[in-house]
Amino acid sequence: MDKILILDFGGQYTHLISRRIRELGVYTEILPGNIPFSEINLSSVKGIILSGGPSSVYEKNSPKCDKRFLESKIPILGICYGHQLLVYILGGKIEKGVAGEYGLTELEIIKNSPLFFKLSKKEIVWMNHQDVVKSLPKDFEIIAKTNYSEIAAYQNLKKKIFGVQFHPEVSHTKKGVEILKNFVFKICQAKKEWQTKKMVEIIKDEIKREIGNEKALLALSGGIDSFVAAILVNSVSKDNLLCIYIDTGLMREEDKKMIKKLSEKYKFKLKIINAQKEFFKNLKGVIHPEEKRKIIGKIFIKIFERIAKREKYNILIQGTIYSDRIESGQTKYSSKIKSHHNVGGLPKRSFLKIYEPLRNLYKDEVRRIAKDLKISKEIIKRHIFPGPGFAIRIIGEVTPKKVAIVRKATKIIEEELKKANYYYKVWMAFPVLLSIKSVGIQGDKRSYKYPIVLRIVESEDAMTANFTKIPYSLLEKISQRLTNEIKEINRVVYDITNKPPATMEWE
Ligand code: XMP
Repeated sequence: MDKILILDFGGQYTHLISRRIRELGVYTEILPGNIPFSEINLSSVKGIILSGGPSSVYEKNSPKCDKRFLESKIPILGICYGHQLLVYILGGKIEKGVAGEYGLTELEIIKNSPLFFKLSKKEIVWMNHQDVVKSLPKDFEIIAKTNYSEIAAYQNLKKKIFGVQFHPEVSHTKKGVEILKNFVFKICQAKKEWQTKKMVEIIKDEIKREIGNEKALLALSGGIDSFVAAILVNSVSKDNLLCIYIDTGLMREEDKKMIKKLSEKYKFKLKIINAQKEFFKNLKGVIHPEEKRKIIGKIFIKIFERIAKREKYNILIQGTIYSDRIESGQTKYSSKIKSHHNVGGLPKRSFLKIYEPLRNLYKDEVRRIAKDLKISKEIIKRHIFPGPGFAIRIIGEVTPKKVAIVRKATKIIEEELKKANYYYKVWMAFPVLLSIKSVGIQGDKRSYKYPIVLRIVESEDAMTANFTKIPYSLLEKISQRLTNEIKEINRVVYDITNKPPATMEWE
């Protein structure tokens, strides 16, 4: 199958380049920017994209790509840092800009290029850089400029090397998708071969290879990713698979019931482990979010290791998807935001081999596969719930009492959003329980109780998010129910922060 390689230099939008191209129906793979040329099988690579990144090319330790890629005759597109890196490697000049060019900018196209096919002479693009390209290597020509960047885009038609200083992958660049389309189809001549059916075939083949005759445990979390992983593995390796659901005491009310039902419907072997006591005991007195995640990750692996030793399993399968890996700093040059427990939170050493069949998929791709597998809409569109569960929605120490408050609040919030037809329109809606108390008046009496933070966010892929502007009347309804029905709560506040600068979860 034709594919586009993306060499990652740590840019915030590397994943977006990949998503946009997959949305066009072409498979992509993201690899570390400095991967040696010799490690890559180029047979189906139709094009290479060099991503953006936070470094400056002239810094001593800045990431560079293997020069041999540039001699491979495969079409190349450099974006932002990638645009500068190509010039730097090929003998042009990069300088620190005076101020920087950030946000929407007018781009003037000054020369015909297949990259800009069907674009107007002037287009709006999105910039985010300080360094600028000052002079081009031999045989390269300028194809576009802006007020700040004399060389905002260039090409070498013979070598099929192109560079753009702006970001075509972000939606603010109005014709960004057109530019990527031009690169992928017109220049690289890639075929549209990335469809759900193909994804499933590839994953199943890999599962056969990875598991073979070995016995594998699969960690079910209650979310769609681990269900899809379970169904796919079960369909090719039924006898070797045992799915485990660990009841941590930190999950939503209906999770356990739903998992049982699904295991019956899809006929996978399921074992439920009641481990509430172990989790609460180990979380006692723990306040720091990363510590909570690490502790939860450790108990998880301990339980899996226990079962594995006893029943002779040696592989642990998880439903980790691509965005989990990025946010846990698992890609080479990106920074660590949080240790998602199903990846970064796990201890480094275990005798279990970790296998993640969905590791290269985005959420919308997993959802498409789930739809094909006839998983019901309620489950596919159910809001994401973090692996560490309510532990990271309780600020401060996690106790069974506090979990009960948050669990009840979650139910109320979800019920009201469903009634108002909002539930399926948003990415997530949840309560966060704070550790402070405030004064209120209830039934003519002074009260001194916890506040709940109501967080409702919209997102395309979890990498960025906006708080949802829901009607005041609905906020009021939720607030009334939370304070009326949960006796420990006397105040509700709405979180009006986007991601960035905040994250969706509070911890
Ligand atoms: P943040 O808070 O990082 O969340 O903006 C992005 C998405 O990831 C979920 N999330 C987690 N999922 N383990 C998980 O399995 C975790 O530790 C974790 N932390 C955040 C979060 O619910 C949101 O959908």
